[in-house]
Amino acid sequence: MSETKKILVAVGTRPEAIKMAPVILALRRQSWASVTVLATAQHRQMLDQVMAAFGIDADIDLNLMRPNQSLPELTSRILLGMDEVLRENSYDAVLVQGDTTTVMGVALSAFYRNIPVGHVEAGLRTGDIRNPFPEEMNRVVAGRLSKWHFAPTRSASDNLLREGFPAESVHVTGNTVIDALKAVASRDLDVGVPLPADKRLVLVTSHRRENFGEPLRRICHAVRELVERHEDIHVLFPVHPNPNVTATVEEILGGNPGVTLTQPLDYLPFVAAMKASYLILSDSGGVQEEAPALGKPVLVLRRETERPEAVAEGVAALVGPDSEAIVRQAGRLLTDPAAYAQMARGASPYGDGHASERIVRILGADLQAA
Ligand code: UD1
Ligand code: UDP
Repeated sequence: MSETKKILVAVGTRPEAIKMAPVILALRRQSWASVTVLATAQHRQMLDQVMAAFGIDADIDLNLMRPNQSLPELTSRILLGMDEVLRENSYDAVLVQGDTTTVMGVALSAFYRNIPVGHVEAGLRTGDIRNPFPEEMNRVVAGRLSKWHFAPTRSASDNLLREGFPAESVHVTGNTVIDALKAVASRDLDVGVPLPADKRLVLVTSHRRENFGEPLRRICHAVRELVERHEDIHVLFPVHPNPNVTATVEEILGGNPGVTLTQPLDYLPFVAAMKASYLILSDSGGVQEEAPALGKPVLVLRRETERPEAVAEGVAALVGPDSEAIVRQAGRLLTDPAAYAQMARGASPYGDGHASERIVRILGADLQAA
């Protein structure tokens, strides 16, 4: 019988937990794997929301979130907290997902303790080290520190091969976000927020650091103009709790009868909201991947994207945080059925729903051969 391998799976923020949940559940089904789930809790409430949705409890919780935390303080707390964990326990591998400060800090901590790292959603790049900030640098650093690169798409894998990573360390698996979505999307889900039944729903999210300040103000002004121009739409905007986001959104959109502002939705109600929506406006990475899989056109509120596949397929469009462009492009989709149908075709360039199985199979084969 093969020896049990000890895997530490780290999650810090909402998107990491959503995308790592299928991997954790798949690993738990393996007889060769002993899984420890570690929450840095870089996010507190939003991480807990997702863990509860997937029925996953953290075995170790560093409980690191502080109000309006800065990158240096968060990074230091992650490094110190992780080192204590890694000093006291031995692991055969550490898994991280994505491009947050948790990912960079946990991968660096594992490197200091000489533990091999597997990077889920590896190889995404804009090519501009300051954009998105700090995520592009986080994923470059995590990549350098990793032994296994689980790339969601061929183009992500090509980025890694171009950077010189050995081909045998790079695996195209699909994105686990589609595994998570497929596990729930066919259920009868409820948004759980009262919304006018006679209006088309436009779902909006925004939280990127590059959009703080003036760009987010322009996004909010565009939303206000859209509801003024199109009386048959209603906007649902679950507001990210980062204080840089809430203050601006409340100031410009608070009290507007055409806009419902809510706390972040739990994952299942948020999937329900995506399914119920006519159109999605978002600067989120995960939402850019989910919307096409649900056949919903998504206007990306950023100037560049590390997820070019949906734009190339014509089911997502980059509009940037620019009021005029948002109002024009959203307006076209709201009034031109042919343009809408073209973008609402549905496509799933990010995966087939089996990414986590592939990741677990590759990891298991490698660790057991060692
Ligand atoms: C972080 C990630 C970003 C990711 C996003 C997903 C970094 C630097 N940023 O951005 O890449 O796209 O998460 O949502 O890793 N807060 C709460 N409750 C929560 C979560 C956040 O109150 O559950 C507030 C706190 O005041 C916290 C602040 O938001 O200090 C910022 O959280 P942080 O994780 O540092 O940055 P995000 O903007 O959430
Ligand atoms: N999401 C959610 N509730 C919300 C908004 C988003 O559950 O109110 C989910 C969404 O389905 C996606 C993920 O959160 O899977 C995206 O997280 P976020 O936008 O915070 O981060 P990013 O993907 O940009 O890093």
